Amino acid sequence: MDDTKKLEDEITAAIVGASDEAVLEAVRVDALGKKGRVSLLMRGLGKMVPEERQVAGPALNALKTRLNDLIAARKEALVELALNARLATEKVDISLPARPRPMGAIHPVSQVMDEVAVIFGDMGFAVAEGPDIEDDFHNFTALNFPPDHPARDQHDTFFLNEKNDGSQMVLRTHTSPVQIRTMVAAVERAKKAGTDLEPIRIIAPGRTYRCDSDQTHTPMFHQIEGLVIDKETHMGHLKGCLTDFMATFFETKVSTRFRPHHFPFTEPSAEMDIGYARKDGQILIGQGDDWMEILGCGMVHPNVLISVGIDPDIYQGFAFGMGIDRLAMLKYGIPDLRDFFAADARWLKHYGFSPLHQPNLATGLSS
Ligand code: DAH
Repeated sequence: MDDTKKLEDEITAAIVGASDEAVLEAVRVDALGKKGRVSLLMRGLGKMVPEERQVAGPALNALKTRLNDLIAARKEALVELALNARLATEKVDISLPARPRPMGAIHPVSQVMDEVAVIFGDMGFAVAEGPDIEDDFHNFTALNFPPDHPARDQHDTFFLNEKNDGSQMVLRTHTSPVQIRTMVAAVERAKKAGTDLEPIRIIAPGRTYRCDSDQTHTPMFHQIEGLVIDKETHMGHLKGCLTDFMATFFETKVSTRFRPHHFPFTEPSAEMDIGYARKDGQILIGQGDDWMEILGCGMVHPNVLISVGIDPDIYQGFAFGMGIDRLAMLKYGIPDLRDFFAADARWLKHYGFSPLHQPNLATGLSS
């Protein structure tokens, strides 16, 4: 029994002295593991005579329980010690300022596209799209550009490599081909349904390309096209629609003027000017003695309607096209068009818009 007491004292001291969980585990294995010192004693019970065993058995069991309890208690203490040590070294300073989380900005071109879509959406226009790579038919021929007409050259067209059949695709020089695609689709729909052509009212924003580059021209730029086709649409609708648009877009009264012009795909054709004044080196859009050209427009040429299978004796309409980048430069006072495409984060931070504000007519186009 003395030996057992000595053993218990020894193991107890080892448990209490264990400095971490690994040491404690080694102590446990040494005492209570399969070949542990206490386990070996328990194995000896089998060789005892019953009277001896009746005394030694319960005593060893009680010892085992005491040791197990001690180990569990020590383990808990060690876990807590380790945690406290970690807490002491891993301090979180909650008084530090939060890390900056940069928020992106909406590019002025995207902003203006959204604004324009909201305004025309309110007038009942849907948004249509077409491909950037066009064929000659949609970009020129169907729009009444005669073959070898100088207007084709005026567009500074980017041509793609000739195909085997000798035809050549182009990067669209304007968004007007979307007019053709929209009308062709509408004619097909009416044919299939066996009904009259439904009235068309679309705008088509998108990228356009011309071989040109200076402060106000870039090889890729953006236009927005408009097309209205119905049975009784006339020049008055065109003027009212575009005059309204300018006032809403520039968020101020805007004087307008329509000047006769020429486009192959409209007859009559006009350019629309808006009034402005120069003050302290700044351009003030809306009122003033100066006029600046802002868009091209006109009544859709009968030849265009014929080229898509619409009867010009029954249907007519108007079309217009304008530069989105130019609208953005004028409304937001951005001096150089090339900066639009320079991908300079500082520029975008200055001229960009909050992604949290969606342009709308109820709470404001811009903020
Ligand atoms: N497509 C013309 C251009 O890029 C702009 C234009 C003028 C579009 C008159 C039209 C229009 O729809 O009627 O210069």
